[in-house]
Order: sequence, then C-alpha cells, then structure tokens
Amino acid sequence: MSGVRLDKLVANLGYGSRKDVQAMVRAGRIRLGGAPVAAADRKLSPQEAASLTIDGDPIDPLPGVVLLMNKPVGLTCSTKEAGPLVYDLLPERWRRRDPPLSTVGRLDKDTSGLLLLTDDGALLHKIISPKTHLPKRYRATLARPLRGDEAEVFAAGTLMLDGETKPLLPAHLAVLGSTEVQLTIIEGRYHQVRRMFAALGNHVVVLHRDALGELTLPEDLPEGEFRSLSEAEVSAALSAGNFHTQVT
Ligand code: URA
Repeated sequence: MSGVRLDKLVANLGYGSRKDVQAMVRAGRIRLGGAPVAAADRKLSPQEAASLTIDGDPIDPLPGVVLLMNKPVGLTCSTKEAGPLVYDLLPERWRRRDPPLSTVGRLDKDTSGLLLLTDDGALLHKIISPKTHLPKRYRATLARPLRGDEAEVFAAGTLMLDGETKPLLPAHLAVLGSTEVQLTIIEGRYHQVRRMFAALGNHVVVLHRDALGELTLPEDLPEGEFRSLSEAEVSAALSAGNFHTQVT
C-alpha cells in the first residue's frame, strides 16, 4: 500500500464520517506510537495503520479481515430471513464498515458451528465457488437409526435431491453411532445436509459444522464468539493445495 489516508481508513471502519474523524484527530483522540496524530489527511503505511489507537484502544481490524465464528443455533446469516442475525454478535460499529463484512457461505438458522466472515470479496468468492470443492465437515444427530447403506449412497455421487437436476458430488459419511454421524461434503447446496438425510427417509435433529477446509472450530472458542484469523492461518487452511476434489 502506498499509503492510505487516515480519515478515509478510520471512517470506513465505521468510527464516523470523515468530518467526525477529522474532529477526533483535532481532539487528539487518534494516536500513533503514543503521540496524537497531527493531520487527518496523513498517509499511513499498513504497519502504521494497524498500530493506531483510538481513545486508547487498538484500532479495529483493518480491511482484509477474516473472522472465525462459533455460530449458535437461532441466528440467521441472511438479512432476508426473519430473526436475529450473526452480525448482531459483532461490535455495533462493525456494521458500518465499508467494505462490509459478509458470511462466507451460510449456515441455516438451526445449524451451529464454524462460520467465516470476511470483507475480502475475492477470498469469499474463491471459498464459495462451486469449483473450489472445499470440504465442509458436519456432525449430525438423526431422528431415526441409520438404515445401513447411507455411506454407500452418499459416496456414489448419484443422489439427486428433490427439485434438482444435477446429482450431488460424492460425500463421505463416518458413522459415530446409530443416530450420530460425521458427514463431509464438498458442495454447498441449500440445506444440503438436511436434504441428504431427508432423501433417505431420515431427519436431522441437530447439525453442527466443525471443519471447513483445514480449519477446525477451536475448542476454546465459546458459542457466539469469534476471533480474527491471521493471513498465514487463512492461507494454510484454504490454500489451493489443501482443496480436495475427492472426499472418499
Ligand atoms: N446443510 C444444511 O442442511 N444446513 C446448513 O446450515 C449447512 C449444510
């Protein structure tokens, strides 16, 4: 970065209008290396931008952020659906960020677990592209005991979901108990896991995603909380070399 203007950066992070930020600078509320910044239009290197403080607090994550959230049941990923949103779990100011944070794909309202959010459009499209085949691993509790052939049917790559014209790609089922399974899919069709079991006459009662690519949900991340991933963590987990086209 040749340098980003301080007032533009801080305004785009949701702290206020550019005018508000200029007033914050005049009031000495924005500091760099402990000293008040003198001019609102000064250019900042990425390192300088990341080390700003505002009212004594570190500045919010800069654009290019990737968040890993432990989504609770009951929140939706889409503003088009009714009910509380996953975005409600973020600091209020973050809703005014430009570019905005979006979920990377979706988990339905009744599904919990690993959810990524980012403001990096290119990364988002790379992850959700149907060509990417990023494995998504779910733990499901079923209403009825397995009938026995589910793993074979899912692995065959021939299962057709209701209302669709293309069969599902192969998916890998690990049986953990008569009504407990781990399912890894490489697509992201609408309510895919629930519909896969419905197609075989069963019903998913509890659904939780615990892995996406090489990323697993950290055990110490409580439900409803999130943390930022470093660039290195994102590329290690999601680099092309780690995308699998086969899960069986
Ligand atoms: N499959 C579903 O049925 N729901 C999700 O949220 C994700 C995958």
